[in-house]
Parts: sequence; C-alpha cells; structure tokens
Amino acid sequence: MRIDILTLFPGMFGEVLDSSILGRAQANNLLSIHVWNIRGFAEDKHRSVDDIPYGGGPGMVMKPDVAVACIEHVKEFNPGKVIYLTPQGTVFDQAKAESLAKEQSLVLLCGHYEGIDQRIRDGWVDDEISIGDYVLTGGELPAMVVVDAIARLIPGVLGDQASACEDSFVNGLLEYPQYTRPSQYRGRKVPQVLLSGNHELIRKWRLKEALRITLTRRPDLLKKRPLTEEEQHLLQEVMLEECDERR
Ligand SMILES: C[S@@+](CC[C@H](N)C(=O)[O-])C[C@H]1O[C@@H](n2cnc3c(N)ncnc32)[C@H](O)[C@@H]1O
Repeated sequence: MRIDILTLFPGMFGEVLDSSILGRAQANNLLSIHVWNIRGFAEDKHRSVDDIPYGGGPGMVMKPDVAVACIEHVKEFNPGKVIYLTPQGTVFDQAKAESLAKEQSLVLLCGHYEGIDQRIRDGWVDDEISIGDYVLTGGELPAMVVVDAIARLIPGVLGDQASACEDSFVNGLLEYPQYTRPSQYRGRKVPQVLLSGNHELIRKWRLKEALRITLTRRPDLLKKRPLTEEEQHLLQEVMLEECDERR
C-alpha cells in the first residue's frame, strides 16, 4: 500500500514512521509512505502557505493555491482518495481503518492553523476524518494515528496476523486481560486458568473477561452487537458476579 502525507511539518513524521512495526513494514515493501512538504509548492518569495481569513477573525487559513499544487503533484504518483484530517470529519474507528486498509493507495492532507481554505475541501478532498472530538494544533498526529491503525491491518505487517483478530473492537468487544511471565509479581498472581494448558477453558475465560470489560467500560458496544448463546450465558454470569462485587 502507498500512503502520501501532505504537511507543513514533515519533520514530525520520521521517528514515528520509521520505527518498530511501521518501519519494518516499509523495509519489507508492504507499505510505502511518502511525506511531502506543502511549503515546497509555494511560489512567492516568502514561500507563504497561509493568509488571513476573509471576513476577519483570529488565526490564519492555509491557502488554496499552494495546497492544491501539492495535491495535484502528488496525484501524479498516487491516484488514491484524498483524505483531509479535520475535527469536522467522520470520527475514525476500527471499521474505518479496516475499510481503508483495503485501498491500494491513500493521500492524507494535514491542516494547520485555522485549517484549510474551504475550496480545497470542495474540489480536491474525497473524504474527511476526525480522530476524536477535540481540537489539535495540526493534522500531523491524526495522520500518524490513521496510518498506524491501517498499517497493522495490511496482511503480513504484524508478525502474527491472528493477534489483530483478537484486538479490541475487531469482534465488537474490548480485549480480555493479557498476562506474561513471571506468574507471580509482587504478590499478584496470573489467573490459574491461563497456566492450565486447557485451551477450551482459556478460550471461555478470555471470552468472559472480554464481555466483562466491555460491559463495565463500553456497554454501548454490547448494545450494537448480537450475542451468541454462549456469550449471553457468560454475560449473565458476569452481571451476577459484578452485582455480588458491588454488594
Ligand atoms: C486548530 S485545527 C483547526 C480547527 C478548525 N478551526 C475547526 O474548528 O474545525 C488545525 C488542524 O488540525 C487538524 N486537526 C485538529 N484536530 C483534529 C482532529 N480531532 N482530528 C483530525 N484532525 C484534526 C486539522 O487538520 C486542522 O486543519
């Protein structure tokens, strides 16, 4: 998959994109990420990329001519959808990450200051994504979030692709608790069932604990998800246990 990122601050990306799993995905040619400096497309002698808003008001707005020159140049190499990161976009979630991971290529446009001129959005942007209901100083961190979430869904990127299948949200639940060695740490023990080697008991325990954490932290997810008979039964048990706990 090819992803081009258009930004005024290309220096923000290096360490994040080149480290760990994203770095390995690029080294293995599963992912190629190209970061473009929008300022490089400014033609006036001050290389200005923003200007004051028409109608007055605080802050600066990114100019259409510079950003569009950058988008059109990048589109020569990358025919993918242009996605503008903005708090006004559709809120990003796992389902969106899964659908974007199926694309061959994407172009991510990062705004800054008060954002970008509306005409860029009207004429050159195909989709708009927000990473949550809060306002950041720029689209760079949101672009990194989106790239990271998509990249780990590309087949071959994670060492063990099965791990992505059990992650939170993938099956509509939060993930069960994870433990590693040692089996006792400062008096805290790993649940005995995980040491039993009984795969069926472990599967059941994990499903029950996934239901428990989803019920207590994100009951909204349970409302959206049909439950199997086994899940309904385990959820009943969890509810009774949680009631007892509160007494
Ligand atoms: C200060 S924000 C501009 C906010 C804009 N004036 C508004 O009220 O919608 C500057 C840039 O940061 C990015 N940004 C800020 N918050 C974001 C979020 N929650 N999700 C995605 N991008 C965001 C966008 O690219 C935006 O153009």
